[in-house]
Amino acid sequence: SSQRKPFVAGNWKMNGSDELVEAFSSKLASNQAVDIVICPPAVYLSKFSQAAFAIGAQNVSEFASGAHTGEVSLSMIAEAGCKYVILGHSERREAYYESNEVVARKVKAAIAAGLTPILCIGEPLEVRESGQVFDFVKAQLDAVAHECGAHYVKNSVIAYEPIWAIGTGKTASPEQAQEVHAFIRKELAALDVSAAASVRILYGGSVNAANAKELFAKIDIDGGLIGGASLKVEDFTTICQAAS
Ligand code: G3P
Repeated sequence: SSQRKPFVAGNWKMNGSDELVEAFSSKLASNQAVDIVICPPAVYLSKFSQAAFAIGAQNVSEFASGAHTGEVSLSMIAEAGCKYVILGHSERREAYYESNEVVARKVKAAIAAGLTPILCIGEPLEVRESGQVFDFVKAQLDAVAHECGAHYVKNSVIAYEPIWAIGTGKTASPEQAQEVHAFIRKELAALDVSAAASVRILYGGSVNAANAKELFAKIDIDGGLIGGASLKVEDFTTICQAAS
């Protein structure tokens, strides 16, 4: 609901199979009015080479190559056809100890490699309950600005994912989400006014085929980052249509 082109990305997390790749490749149509991205586990990226939509990785190494067992580099995901990479997802911040600084370095490396980061930020429940949401989100953004400078704003997509809404079925209300999205855009405007006006800010956290439309109707909600509902091609299609 603005001059910005809506953006809907599916984060499959550690789910999927050759069969699901095939189902999405054959059934998920492109939509002129929406940027559609699927982010499958890394081993499936290159299997989407003929797809009608864009693909993204869920994480990437901050390093270029070498002795980093188990990691995948930016040049590798680019060769596999990625245009995007999710960075700073709360599951990686929490379970894999990615600090604000690590995430910031990955954002910098991704942009330098010509990929667009989908930078995830968002607060845990105790932060929301103590009324510190803006401070928390601001610190996450400041770390990226400190590492990358203002130019990251025009080269990124931002995803606001309140942790208490992820995989819980407990969606932020459209008003709760809009309030934080507006704050994020205001913070980014302090770095680059015009880039902040055009950066897509996605909402993530229990978005589904039934609630997507009212979330996307908010002025600063430019689409969604979808987890569970991105594993079903019909539901995901409905969500993409809700954004258009
Ligand atoms: O990155 C997407 C995400 O964390 C939301 O997951 O399952 O609540 O849609 P879900």
